[in-house]
Amino acid sequence: MNDNLHQLRCIGCGARLTGAEVQPDFRCAQCGELFEVEYPGWSQRQGPDRPNAGALKWLWRERRSSSETLDHSGVWRFRELLPILESFGNAVTLFEGNTPLYHLPRAAKALGIDQLFAKHQGMNPTGSFKDTGMTAAMSVAKERGFEWVACASTGNTSAAMAAYAARAGLRCLVLIPEGKIAWGKLSQAMDYGAVTCQLKADFDGCLTLLTQIVKEAPIYLLNSVNPYRLEGQKTPAFEIAEAFDWSVPDHLIVPGGNLGNSSALGKGFRELHDLGLVARMPKISVIQAAGANPLVRSFLNNQGTALEPVEADTRATAIRIGNPASWRKAVRVIQDTGGWCLDVTEAEIAIAKAEIGAEGLGCEPASAVTLAGLKKLRAGGKIASSETVVLLLTGHTLKDADYTIDFHRGTLLKPEEAVGREAEIARLRRNAQAVEATPAAVLAALKGSVG
Ligand code: F0G
Repeated sequence: MNDNLHQLRCIGCGARLTGAEVQPDFRCAQCGELFEVEYPGWSQRQGPDRPNAGALKWLWRERRSSSETLDHSGVWRFRELLPILESFGNAVTLFEGNTPLYHLPRAAKALGIDQLFAKHQGMNPTGSFKDTGMTAAMSVAKERGFEWVACASTGNTSAAMAAYAARAGLRCLVLIPEGKIAWGKLSQAMDYGAVTCQLKADFDGCLTLLTQIVKEAPIYLLNSVNPYRLEGQKTPAFEIAEAFDWSVPDHLIVPGGNLGNSSALGKGFRELHDLGLVARMPKISVIQAAGANPLVRSFLNNQGTALEPVEADTRATAIRIGNPASWRKAVRVIQDTGGWCLDVTEAEIAIAKAEIGAEGLGCEPASAVTLAGLKKLRAGGKIASSETVVLLLTGHTLKDADYTIDFHRGTLLKPEEAVGREAEIARLRRNAQAVEATPAAVLAALKGSVG
């Protein structure tokens, strides 16, 4: 690893380590907190290691038309801002990143916002934002000579890890909560060859167990407590800034589960700002499901100074997390940028997901909390109509097809969950109909759907 250029800093007590010194569970031996990757050379105003803002913008754009393998990755295209490897030849890539930024005209009109976009991280190789983090941390695992890697997961991390491990020629172990992840994600881990254990535990229990296992066996932990994951996951911030010609949007809205992603995006924008690539940071807001909202409670009860774990329950299984590991990092991002933290109900998630589907994009339920959260922020007067807003869609709609089908069949929500929203839901539902195989019957069905 490139220990000359980077070090790890504990976000609790400030202790600094080289990459090789950190404990296998990525917790500080002194205070138990998590680490953040730091690049000491960047703080010297004129030092040889401080990246040059103008040159980088030009270089990164040039790489979009390069034929070099690494330049095809939307993560390693920005490698000057993630010098974590001894040799970039060790990078394990599936050409992740470079995801589309879509305009959302219907939602924008309904909300009275001029500029509303979706950065669709579900368009990554395994269908979620986890790929951008996995390429970075898997490359470190490979460079450090590990044979086994592992993660606890609500599904997407395991799918991404299994794919990148296969590409790197490493073996991998997946711990998932039994019956609580979407089948599409489980099928990916199996397809890519992971050793998959379904445990009678929730995500938080799986992660606690894995933390013990990595202390006993030479297995590299690839959950987002691993700070190299966040180095990869910060790069969508660079793509967003680049897409807006380096004048960042006013507001970025992100789903919150284990809270690694919001932390990573905040770090990405903070670094762009500190290095002079952008003049300001966007507000970053984090939205949780009401049944899995420990960070929301923390802000309400004690301004984010302490976090009380909750028993999590939501159909947005990706964010069914009651004891998020990176909560302190996320609190800092929300407070530094002036964003908000709020939660949305199961009905609000389902409606928002159907609306994103109706834009021709689709996403998995956990991603839809962003639009549901935006509606609340707008209704509460927190976002002006002139502001530019980006929703971060974290997973592809095909990840959880059962959820979508249940919604359109009308079997997803209990009547008491849908109270007051029945008309909206009815307007969005598009159930598949059984129709006789005659032109007349099909045309009658067509007529019935108009109006
Ligand atoms: N959206 C999706 C689709 C996710 O899979 C996750 C997390 C999140 C949002 C929340 O991101 O944890 O960084 O706050 N999924 C993890 C997993 C926990 O195991 O796949 P976060």
